[in-house]
Amino acid sequence: MTVSRIAAQQGPVLRELRTASLREAPYAFGETLEDALQVEPSSFDETAFLHANSAKLATFLLYTEGHPCGLVHAYIEESSDARAFVSALWVAPAVRHLRGGELLVNVASEWLAEQGAAEVHAWIADENRTAMRFYERLGFGPTGDRRAMPSHEAEAESLYVRHMHSGRHA
Ligand SMILES: CC(C)(COP(=O)(O)OP(=O)(O)OC[C@H]1O[C@@H](n2cnc3c(N)ncnc32)[C@H](O)[C@@H]1OP(=O)(O)O)[C@@H](O)C(=O)NCCC(=O)NCCS
Repeated sequence: MTVSRIAAQQGPVLRELRTASLREAPYAFGETLEDALQVEPSSFDETAFLHANSAKLATFLLYTEGHPCGLVHAYIEESSDARAFVSALWVAPAVRHLRGGELLVNVASEWLAEQGAAEVHAWIADENRTAMRFYERLGFGPTGDRRAMPSHEAEAESLYVRHMHSGRHA
């Protein structure tokens, strides 16, 4: 398995992976499949272009034998404290437990560290115990911050953080 940053012309790949993830794991994300299907396909082209070139936003894609099979977004908030995040993490069910998720999060975290981040954050749905165990194994821990999930107001999500200089990441 390999991970590489999205290329500017990969809008259709981004749309395919994002809609597949929202269809397969709707409980995990602060956006619904309907939200993603309503936006113009061309907006995925704009996102891919931006995420291929920006110093604040990136998407990394997971490949197995040349086929895209997972993704993660990495971004630095516009606010004054400029916190760094990974989000939208998804690995296709057929290739789970092969460390693809770990590779995605580590590559995204290293990129954020190169942009100056000392910490990497992730919002995790409280009901998503698998993701909590997954992130904890990578050295993330709860900050204590909780909020209602965007698009699933009845559900809550918790903020996790990993310190990039703790030596616990690859
Ligand atoms: C979370 C996710 C990205 C992990 O991807 P992955 O490629 O399987 O992860 P890795 O192989 O790197 O690591 C797997 C490890 O995570 C944990 N884990 C993953 N799935 C698990 C499960 N179903 N039950 C328990 N632990 C699990 C375990 O520690 C596991 O180690 P193991 O495979 O040795 O048992 C994947 O399960 C996924 O896409 N889930 C749906 C979307 C989602 O929840 N995204 C996160 C949003 S915050």
